[in-house]
Formats: sequence, C-alpha cells, structure tokens
Amino acid sequence: MIVAIGCDHGGFPLKQAVTDKIKALGFEVLDFGTDSAESVDYPDYAVQVSKAVLSGKAERGILICGSGVGVCITANKFKGIYASVAHDVYTAAQGVTHDNMNILCLGGRVISPSQAVKLTEAFLTATAKGQEDRHLRRINKVLEVERKNFK
Ligand code: RB5
Repeated sequence: MIVAIGCDHGGFPLKQAVTDKIKALGFEVLDFGTDSAESVDYPDYAVQVSKAVLSGKAERGILICGSGVGVCITANKFKGIYASVAHDVYTAAQGVTHDNMNILCLGGRVISPSQAVKLTEAFLTATAKGQEDRHLRRINKVLEVERKNFK
C-alpha cells in the first residue's frame, strides 16, 4: 500500500515517527511535507494528500496538524475523502472497518509520537473488506448524502 503523508508545523513533531512506522509496516510513503517547524498553512498539505488519495496515487493518507481538526475539515471538502481525527486505537481502526475512513488526522499538540505510531498501525492494518450488511447500508446512506450535497 502507498500512504500519503502531510503535515503543518503543528504536526511536524509527529511526522518522522509516523513515517518510520508506515515503512516498518512494509508500506510506501508519499511525502508531501512540510519538512520543518517553520509556520505554514495546513490546508496546503491537506489538499495535496487528499488529491493523492483521490487520484489513486495513494490508497490512504495521514494528515497531521496541531489538533488534527484543520486538516480534517479541509480534507472532507473533497468528494470521496472520508477523513477523521482519531486519537485512540479503537477509533483509528473502526473508522476504516465501519466507515471507510481513508485519511487519518492526528494532532501533534495532542498526542505523543508513541501514540501516533500505535494509531498509524491501527489505521493501516484495518481493512474495509468484508463489511457487514449494516455497515454497508450506513455507508450507502452517507454516499447518498454526499451525492445530494456535493456539487
Ligand atoms: C496552527 O497553529 C494550528 O492552527 C494548526 O496546526 C491546526 O491545529 C489547526 O487545526
């Protein structure tokens, strides 16, 4: 699997640990920066990672800002992106298995690198394959909302 990663300065402290974990899991990293703690604007990175996922260049994405919120809001402005902040392992995996989450958003000012590594593993090893009927029914309802509201 190819995983796109992007962060702003608030997320930069987690980026190396997350990148190392992606590689340790045997996956490839598509790195969209940023590469220092210098102040930048999180939407610029969220857009690049979202586009990589939508184009198929990457299968999933991980976005990191200070809280995880700014990148999450930006990513969800793209039709076909299902991004969420998840700071516990259960949510990081369940977002994939129940909800088709394709971008995990993390907060560099909220969690430690070691927690980010656990969340990265939970997210990337979870699969949406074999979803049960009730999950598919709910996902289809979400897609119907998307069809009606995204121009
Ligand atoms: C940047 O200061 C900060 O606002 C950003 O990293 C993020 O937390 C926004 O949600």
